[in-house]
Amino acid sequence: MQIFIDSANIREIEKWVRFGIADGVTTNPSIMLKDGMTNMEKGAKEIAVILGERPVSVEVTSDSPGEMLSQAREFASWAKNIVVKIPIINQYGDPYLEVIHTLEEEGIRINATAALSFGQMALSAKAGATYSSIFSGRVADEGGDPWELVAMSVDWLESWDYKTRIIVGSIRSVIDIQNAAVAGAHIITIPPQFLSKWVDHKYSRETVKQFMDDAKKAFKGLK
Ligand code: E4P
Repeated sequence: MQIFIDSANIREIEKWVRFGIADGVTTNPSIMLKDGMTNMEKGAKEIAVILGERPVSVEVTSDSPGEMLSQAREFASWAKNIVVKIPIINQYGDPYLEVIHTLEEEGIRINATAALSFGQMALSAKAGATYSSIFSGRVADEGGDPWELVAMSVDWLESWDYKTRIIVGSIRSVIDIQNAAVAGAHIITIPPQFLSKWVDHKYSRETVKQFMDDAKKAFKGLK
């Protein structure tokens, strides 16, 4: 299982790369807004350099298929490890399957994003997407079971030998990470604040303190 960092915060991305945890990064316009990334090209290139070979997803900002194609080609020219995020449908329900298919045929890797159902995931795989991003928190918002959806999606992709990898996004709490992992997610994209919480435990802190205190008592002269 891979872990991506769901963030445009350069310091956090650098930190989780240094820790050996980050296998990639995902962004979207809302994340860039929140993290103060106002120049998409400069920011995406900076993240791409930090990641080396590992992928960074950058989302198109148009709902016109023609503009999406040209934006995607431009983004992909910024660095070899840029993956272009294309939403599976637009706000009116029109699918972007042709955009996904055309770009993948050109060799541009696509992250088909904002999937909330099995059908959206399956059709993005049929269209050739490298990644399908299932938004677990938003599935749960609508009363769906995101973990059942992730498990079914991974099983289906693997039983038919699709190359598409499931990225579980929209992580809203620490337990979501464990649920996604147990459901078999290929990749989980995690906001950094939840990774920090995932590694922490109050009782581990107390345990380590006890060992330090006892070491000082046991080994005379230890500083
Ligand atoms: C990741 O690729 C998504 O853009 C992100 O996880 C969406 O999260 P949200 O549902 O909290 O906006």
